[in-house]
Amino acid sequence: MIVMTRRNWALRLSIVLNICVLLYVCAHFGSWQEEGTNWDTGGVAAPLVQNVFGSESIQINSSAKTAQEARATRVMGIERYEKKNIDTSTAGSEGGIKGVDATKILGKDDTIEGQNDPLSPSSLNLKDIVACTDKSQEPRKMQRGDYWVLYNYVPMTISVKCWETLTYTTHADYTFLDNVEPLLERWRAPVSIAMHAPGYDFQTTVDSIKYLRNCGSELVSQLVTFHVYFSSKHVPNVVPPSKEVVNDSYNCTLGPPWANPQNKKMYKVEKNLLYPVNVGRNIARETAVTHYLLASDIELYPSPELPSKFLEMIRRRDQPALLTPNPKVFVLSIFEVDEKSLPPKNKTALQKMLKSGSAIPFHKKVCSACHNIPKSKEWQDAPETDGLHIFHAGKRTGTFVHWEPIFIGTNSDPSYDERLSWEGKSDKMTQGYELCVLDYDFLILDNAFLVHRPGIKSHKKDQKRDMITAKTNHFIKKIIVPELKVMFGKRTGCAV
Ligand SMILES: *[C@@H]1O[C@H](CO)[C@@H](O)[C@H](O)[C@H]1NC(C)=O
Ligand SMILES: *[C@@H]1O[C@H](CO)[C@@H](O)[C@H](O)[C@H]1NC(C)=O
Ligand SMILES: *[C@@H]1O[C@H](CO)[C@@H](O)[C@H](O)[C@H]1NC(C)=O
Repeated sequence: MIVMTRRNWALRLSIVLNICVLLYVCAHFGSWQEEGTNWDTGGVAAPLVQNVFGSESIQINSSAKTAQEARATRVMGIERYEKKNIDTSTAGSEGGIKGVDATKILGKDDTIEGQNDPLSPSSLNLKDIVACTDKSQEPRKMQRGDYWVLYNYVPMTISVKCWETLTYTTHADYTFLDNVEPLLERWRAPVSIAMHAPGYDFQTTVDSIKYLRNCGSELVSQLVTFHVYFSSKHVPNVVPPSKEVVNDSYNCTLGPPWANPQNKKMYKVEKNLLYPVNVGRNIARETAVTHYLLASDIELYPSPELPSKFLEMIRRRDQPALLTPNPKVFVLSIFEVDEKSLPPKNKTALQKMLKSGSAIPFHKKVCSACHNIPKSKEWQDAPETDGLHIFHAGKRTGTFVHWEPIFIGTNSDPSYDERLSWEGKSDKMTQGYELCVLDYDFLILDNAFLVHRPGIKSHKKDQKRDMITAKTNHFIKKIIVPELKVMFGKRTGCAV
């Protein structure tokens, strides 16, 4: 009886407390809402505008130079920044741009089309649309299956919020690093690269990273994060601490290490190692600090201004294809240009090159089924328009059942099977199958595209590689496909 009464009292007390908490929360929620609705009066449009590209969040490590700070902001697609003539004295020598008031970077007059009407859906805040969590860029050494990984071994110097830009994620060994600068020149947003560097390839890789950061465009140190990985059977003799590599200078008169004849004999080739392309792809993707990312191959250069145009499309939310409940990725059309041509800067220029034959759809001569895109003919004929839109929503079925699309997506999308190697080919096919079974929409973007570094590929006979490919195909069919059917289920029309 007594126990009952005590319990009763405890219960009542807890109800009273709960009500108090509820009232407190309601009161604050009310006032928050009031603040939130202020923009209805048109008075506080400015914060929304600033949030579009989040310039207030751009910070530079204390090691960064002031000149770098100025460029760093431009890099994020905020070209207006320069016109605003920032007082660099307030940016100071320590703390970088941290201390600069965001309104100085993006003044009130920097409104973006459609944002002046608070009732239009386009006045929504990108930060709230891209609900995401910021990620650390702290270097860490970890094992990953058979591999050692130096995550964030050399981090980029600027720090970004997860919603304010896109990351280009990719994999490479040092012989591909000559692509970094032309890529950055067009992308001008964060890049996350996983470098395969077994044995003595490690030293050349570190030298190449130092060369890029010290001797070329400042965009490299600002925007590129390098991760390094190698098999635990092929550990290098020395792995210097991350700080040392970040800090080290490089004798630029020595030229790029990847072009040095001394470095032509790769450890990987000497030891006959396969290139674990999907380990690299996953490392680079998982460590991307932004929500949206473009998982690509380093030789594919995006059309300029893609990051800002893409986020503007996301913010506008005016594309019906964006509002369906299906999971989605944003597909880019891919082209090749001949050796004598520069990659086109916009769709209009691309169309001219397609007409003249100096550009062709990617892998037309190697594997057209792998990269042919639904409605590609219509895409090529459609004139360029302003901004970015969804051209067509496709599926990976029918003619496109073996499609290996390159797309803008997120880390929620299926990852890449780490047992597959570059030499074995079909390395993106299992991901394609998963996307199909999960009923993904493949939203094709209208005014954006990728161009392979100049030089058109033709099919070369390679007996050794053909053998590895045959083995891989057998492995996919006998081991991976049954596995995927268990893990993801089946759907009519889907195949690896
Ligand atoms: C960075 O380099 C400077 C001079 O180049 C040196 O004085 C400093 O000790 C180095 N810091 C680290 C952490 O290695
Ligand atoms: C840089 O390399 C060049 C060419 O090998 C050499 O002549 C020069 O002395 C080096 N400079 C330094 C500071 O080590
Ligand atoms: C497209 O690029 C060409 C060549 O670079 C340039 O002349 C033209 O003005 C550009 N068109 C647009 C719409 O930007």
